Amino acid sequence: MKYVNIANTDLQVSNMIMGNMRLTQLTVSEAEKLIRAAMDMGINFFDHADIYGKGKCEELFSEAIQMTPAVREKMVLQSKCGIRSPEGYFDFSREHIVTSVDRILNRLKTDYLDILLLHRPDTLMEPEEVAEAFDELHKSGKVKYFGVSNHNPTQIELLQKYIPHKLVVNQLQFSIAHTPMIDSGITLNMKHDQAINRDSSILEYCRLHDITIQAWSPFQHGFFDGVFLGDSERYPELNKVIDTLAEKYGVTNTGIAVAWITRHPANIQVVLGTTNIERMKDACNGAEITLTREEWYQIYKAAGNIVP
Ligand SMILES: NC(=O)c1ccc[n+]([C@@H]2O[C@H](COP(=O)([O-])OP(=O)(O)OC[C@H]3O[C@@H](n4cnc5c(N)ncnc54)[C@H](OP(=O)(O)O)[C@@H]3O)[C@@H](O)[C@H]2O)c1
Repeated sequence: MKYVNIANTDLQVSNMIMGNMRLTQLTVSEAEKLIRAAMDMGINFFDHADIYGKGKCEELFSEAIQMTPAVREKMVLQSKCGIRSPEGYFDFSREHIVTSVDRILNRLKTDYLDILLLHRPDTLMEPEEVAEAFDELHKSGKVKYFGVSNHNPTQIELLQKYIPHKLVVNQLQFSIAHTPMIDSGITLNMKHDQAINRDSSILEYCRLHDITIQAWSPFQHGFFDGVFLGDSERYPELNKVIDTLAEKYGVTNTGIAVAWITRHPANIQVVLGTTNIERMKDACNGAEITLTREEWYQIYKAAGNIVP
């Protein structure tokens, strides 16, 4: 397992993250096995959000691992707030942020979060209120570090103008089959859909400002439209290339999907959503190999992209 430092923090974290959005698909004892297996593989970073399973995923996590201060110290815990569900809107008000964190801590049975992320941009946010909430949470020791998810550079700058704490993470959707983060840079200024800059060059912005990128849904295409691995009807060429490389490196197709993300020099952490121990192992094995530059581009093109 490779470990990276989250810049501007004292956190040394595994480049594989266990994502807990789907944890409620498991029983308590299955969840315990999965979390313990993740820790045995060297994963020390666990991603949550207050809305996963309407809070049940966080509850199940702490119940399954029988959370105690000793267990807690072995983990880096991250959660998110800012989405009102099931109402279906965003809320970065001071009150909502502070209340959400209290509820998260209660469900996770801990008294602090290592990192709190704002889940999706709230266009009605008052950045001064976010700053107030963060200040309160930091001073009380409830949150050590702050970050965002699904934010573009200008949204980050706007927040950062008011927040004294450095935003250290941006969690973004990224997989071989979902690459807006790099597409426009590769086809810059071309009259081609791939050249549309959908996120104001967030990848380069994060690298310039030492914000750690975390890739969510590493095996999905679209917005939870399904897994591209093994889908030879929709992605015939891609799966052919992936399978050939999997054989070459002695890993599975899951491993190649992870290796493609970790090959990027931005040191992207991969948020694994699997509930399957074997698949988690496959993913970790993939993170150990280094694809060549040519192989990386070959995969990118096989996913239907152009490299002019
Ligand atoms: N910040 C955000 O807005 C945001 C949004 C979504 C998710 N997230 C985070 O990212 C994490 C990962 O998201 P995700 O779960 O969508 O990502 P994912 O790891 O791409 O997808 C996991 C799902 O795909 C299935 N799967 C993976 N490979 C497969 C294969 N080869 N064949 C069949 N099924 C396969 C898994 O089934 P098995 O369980 O059977 O392996 C699981 O249901 C979440 O847990 C959450 O922490 C963040």
